Amino acid sequence: MTTPAADNDTTTAASLAVDLAGLKLANPMMTASGTCGYAYEYAGLADLARLGAFVTKSITSQPRQGNEPQRIVETRAGMLNAIGLANIGLDAFMAEKLPDLRRLRDSGPRIIVNVAGHSLDEYVTTAGRIASEDIVDAIELNVSCPNVGDGLTFGTDPQLLKDLVRQVRGAMRKDCKLIVKLSPNVGDVTQTAGAAVEGGADVLSMINTYTAMAIDINKKRPRLANGTGGLSGPAIRPLAVYLVSMVYRHVAKPAGVPIVGMGGIQYWQDAVEFLLAGATGLAVGTALFVDPATPITVMDGLRGYLVKQGCSSITDVIGQLQIGGDTPRTPYP
Ligand SMILES: Cc1cc2nc3c(=O)[nH]c(=O)nc-3n(C[C@H](O)[C@H](O)[C@H](O)COP(=O)(O)O)c2cc1C
Repeated sequence: MTTPAADNDTTTAASLAVDLAGLKLANPMMTASGTCGYAYEYAGLADLARLGAFVTKSITSQPRQGNEPQRIVETRAGMLNAIGLANIGLDAFMAEKLPDLRRLRDSGPRIIVNVAGHSLDEYVTTAGRIASEDIVDAIELNVSCPNVGDGLTFGTDPQLLKDLVRQVRGAMRKDCKLIVKLSPNVGDVTQTAGAAVEGGADVLSMINTYTAMAIDINKKRPRLANGTGGLSGPAIRPLAVYLVSMVYRHVAKPAGVPIVGMGGIQYWQDAVEFLLAGATGLAVGTALFVDPATPITVMDGLRGYLVKQGCSSITDVIGQLQIGGDTPRTPYP
């Protein structure tokens, strides 16, 4: 049996290095926002230095307590969460968390800060200020938030999304990449993906959670205090792979915009599906609750797959899904 080589071993047959619109990562593996805090909460559990990038939880302009408990429910093949963007807010993030992230970056991974807001101004101010820090390689916009102005969710309305992305891009340091994280809670994700690209997104990430509900049958009430929550984990993986393949073929590939794929990645085979569907980066969220080392074991498995496939680079696999005929845009045309 051969031992997987270390990620920085340049003698390996297959390179795992990927390029996200000019942001170079040693490997495609990253954490999914909100599933491992600001980084160091997680440091004792897995070797963060081996990640391609670390993605923080969503940061908002003001501190947020988040929703009342119960805010997490386990489901048969995943979990429902309604955390409600609990975070320490912009000022405390800059003062207390950035120094730790700087140290983490020095050890290898690129730093991606996820930003959320409830108005256009909030997004612009928060993203602009965080992006002014040289250690922040990219901002990931969580657009699954309602706008206080009109109640519309930014990520489900193409025009609103395009305006948001354009204004945030304009407020950011030029060499800081802008990743727009797409919501699956839309009729046609290629519309919102297209709007994000037109607005100036450098990278698309997908998918955020599916709105869902679990019911306590004795109390006859929703199990989450919030009523609804976001479904994640293996339950959503085939849905996520499908949406990545759609966005890759219809929007991202023609526009030359890379995709970070996520949604239920737990094993290396799952990661290969996302790569074949068109993802360049790969994020792991819910599976971290089962095994915090999941991104590392997935990465080692990917390396073995690439060698078996005779590939010299992971990029040989990206978007290589072969589809017979013209696949319909919807499952039931
Ligand atoms: C507990 C929990 C908290 C999350 N918090 C955030 C968040 O703060 N911002 C965000 O953009 N996505 C958040 N997400 C969504 C994940 O980043 C990811 O898009 C989604 O869970 C799908 O990936 P997974 O199936 O690997 O978890 C959260 C997911 C979970 C499970």
